[in-house]
Amino acid sequence: MKPKKNIAKKVKKPEAKKTKSPVSEEKKARSYSLVRGMHDILPKEEKYWKKCFHTAEDLASYFQFGRVETPILEETGLFIRSIGKGTDVVDKEMYAFEDSDGSRVCLRPEATASIARSYIMNGMANIPQPVKLWYWGPMFRHDRPQAGRYRQFYQVGYEILGATDPSADAELILIAYNFYKDLGIPVEVHINSIGNKEERERYKEELTNYYRSKRGYLCADCKARLNRNPLRLLDCKEADCQPVKEEAPKIIDWLGTESNNHFTKVLEYLDEIGVPYSLRHTLVRGLDYYNNTVFEIYPASGEGTAQSALGGGGRYDSLLEQVGGRPTPAVGMALGIDRSILAWKQYNEQNKLVVSGPEYDVFFAQLGDDSKRVALRLLDCLRHSGIKVGFNLGKSSLKNQMEIANNFKVPFVIILGQKEVQDKTAIIRDMESGVQEVVDQKKLETVIKKKLGRA
Ligand code: HAM
Repeated sequence: MKPKKNIAKKVKKPEAKKTKSPVSEEKKARSYSLVRGMHDILPKEEKYWKKCFHTAEDLASYFQFGRVETPILEETGLFIRSIGKGTDVVDKEMYAFEDSDGSRVCLRPEATASIARSYIMNGMANIPQPVKLWYWGPMFRHDRPQAGRYRQFYQVGYEILGATDPSADAELILIAYNFYKDLGIPVEVHINSIGNKEERERYKEELTNYYRSKRGYLCADCKARLNRNPLRLLDCKEADCQPVKEEAPKIIDWLGTESNNHFTKVLEYLDEIGVPYSLRHTLVRGLDYYNNTVFEIYPASGEGTAQSALGGGGRYDSLLEQVGGRPTPAVGMALGIDRSILAWKQYNEQNKLVVSGPEYDVFFAQLGDDSKRVALRLLDCLRHSGIKVGFNLGKSSLKNQMEIANNFKVPFVIILGQKEVQDKTAIIRDMESGVQEVVDQKKLETVIKKKLGRA
């Protein structure tokens, strides 16, 4: 038999219109990854972040700091002028760009300079001194990412402006120490004094001479720092440079009477309040605005490398003037939250400690669509009475919901089934005894409050 002709082949199909359907567009969509050095903070992390924020806020309120929120975007010049050319932050790490109007702006790498700007701009020099300010928010540094080092990270900071007294330096160290104590992380304070400008200049000369004599042992970065910013030589983390650094002249030997007295008093305060500290003669901090007291906070068992510094700060008596204000003595510190949480988790893991999640007074279990509808209304009423209720409206089986309630370790569960909706009642189950009680929905808040001992 002759094979049938494939007529379909001969019929010329009208050309398909080549418009992109939303489906083909969708197929093409690629998935996106994070920008290098950034990280998401997920709900499972929330308990750590919340506890850090509340601890920071409680300390701020106890020590009478007022909260300031400065913008993330600032003029680039503000940071160049304050942090200083020749520092890693300014030379290598700023997210600086030209805005569409041609102005030079950058994502703040830290907030002390912003606080100084805000203090001047908002006339805070004219109110009773000292002015105590605190802040919480993201900072940005284009550094090489690694564990605990991100390009966007959070800091909480406390600044005391208009205070010369060494008690202000000690107060800030006490706040930092208490922050970690309240979280349950043992820390130690590393402290040094870098004196005033003249003392530092004389010391820098001595340091440069010493390092020149050791030039052959230095890493490439240190060779460059030698001419540009010799104090930064003491920040070097290269293993080969460490022996040279340890033998370097100590800045403390270059301090005059006034600087020495200030430092001694700070240490006396720390002794008095029982904050453990260790003197570190190579601690100079990576930002140029400091004078006299400088300090950093490390996990107690830490090796003391800069990577693991949880926080740091110091006195910056010339900064306000440098950015256009009146001469205003000041001291401050900032704690890195991302890094502190990492250290906290590590410590808890080693010591088998658990940070509790959200705590609820009761759990609300509902069965069926009608109960779900009523549940939302009742949940809202309970919220207004200050009762913390756990619930999961996505679950319909009582078994599942009781399991969740068990995980939350709540003392009582409110159960709402079809019958209770019709009768306008609810069941309250005591999770310890298993005893159940039916109550009128109108009396639910009162009965629960009574059971929780809040009536
Ligand atoms: P800082 O030492 O540059 O000081 O930063 C303080 C803390 O922020 C560090 O100890 C660290 O925990 C955290 N941090 C810094 N860079 C990163 C990063 N790339 N990734 C994760 N965490 C980081 C300052 O910023 C000064 N403004 C502190 C201050 C306030 N001085 C006087 N007042």
